[in-house]
Amino acid sequence: MAPISDVREISNLAYGFIASKVLFAALNAKIFDMLAGGPRRLSDLQGETGIGGNRLETLLTACVSLGLIEDGADGFANAPACQQYLVSTSPLYFGDYFRFQIDRQLYPLLLNLDKALRAQAPASVYDVMENPEEADYFTRAQHVGSLGPAAVIQKQVDLTGATRLLDVAGGSGAFSITLCRRFPTLHATILDLPNVTRVAERYIAGAGLADRIRVLSGDALSTTWPGDQDVVLLSYLLSAVGGPAIPRLFQLSYAALRGGGTLLVHDFFVDDDRRGPRGAALWFVPFLFNPEAVSFTPAGLQDKIRAVGFRDIEVRHVIPGLTRLMVAWKPG
Ligand SMILES: C[S@@+](CC[C@H](N)C(=O)[O-])C[C@H]1O[C@@H](n2cnc3c(N)ncnc32)[C@H](O)[C@@H]1O
Repeated sequence: MAPISDVREISNLAYGFIASKVLFAALNAKIFDMLAGGPRRLSDLQGETGIGGNRLETLLTACVSLGLIEDGADGFANAPACQQYLVSTSPLYFGDYFRFQIDRQLYPLLLNLDKALRAQAPASVYDVMENPEEADYFTRAQHVGSLGPAAVIQKQVDLTGATRLLDVAGGSGAFSITLCRRFPTLHATILDLPNVTRVAERYIAGAGLADRIRVLSGDALSTTWPGDQDVVLLSYLLSAVGGPAIPRLFQLSYAALRGGGTLLVHDFFVDDDRRGPRGAALWFVPFLFNPEAVSFTPAGLQDKIRAVGFRDIEVRHVIPGLTRLMVAWKPG
């Protein structure tokens, strides 16, 4: 990112929170759903949202200013991206990720960022998992958020013939479900915290994969991992744990894999020169509430993976500017 030179760029960053809240409020009020069938007038939307005239007009004006909706001759209409990704009946919908995880859980946590920087806010993004209702919200949000990268990764790896996948911190099972659908011989074990595996069981049953995906409840750092795996997947786990836990997770992965098995690490990565990309650099910030958490680069993690004994390490981009997949092979 080039250094900014215009004061308006500072303002854009400073007011970004208002823009985010406008997006979340529009999602929560189901504005994008109401416009899914075509343009509608303010008076029509007032009745359906139950939001008083001036307030709704102010919210919609903000939405128009952000490009989320258009104000045309026939009334308000969804912008193309909102029609595709923020209408709840769309197959590509992921608005619940923003509603339940970012608006409900992450941004309230970030209100304490100043304290966290001074180690006065001992908390973690994953503290919410101790509360069954919040774990449910988080995991439902993560499910719709992870289906996109899972769809990319199932095309980037060839697991033909693999029969055992250990999905460590597997959340809802978005990755296990996607990979089991793609590779018919594959069976998966999802290891995650108890309030999360309860939710995963719902998704596994809903996908009709209860005979191929099982759950194992526990803390990944203290639960015994099943061995003789063809594939171990760590998706969005390393960013959450402390720095010292990362080599330990690689050692546990190495021990759980059979010779010739594959380690898949999917996570946020900043570039080796640590100058971006912005999305990944920002995503490490909520994790600094954990005093031991670290932001990592591909080169940094490759060294740690190699030190454990893995070879043939490759890195691929998954969500552009945000996440990457590291693939490593255990010599057989
Ligand atoms: C962002 S979610 C990602 C879930 C899944 N891997 C995916 O990519 O969709 C991170 C997951 O890590 C789990 N997690 C965090 N720390 C953990 C630990 N120590 N042991 C087991 N699971 C953990 C959380 O419960 C959560 O489900």
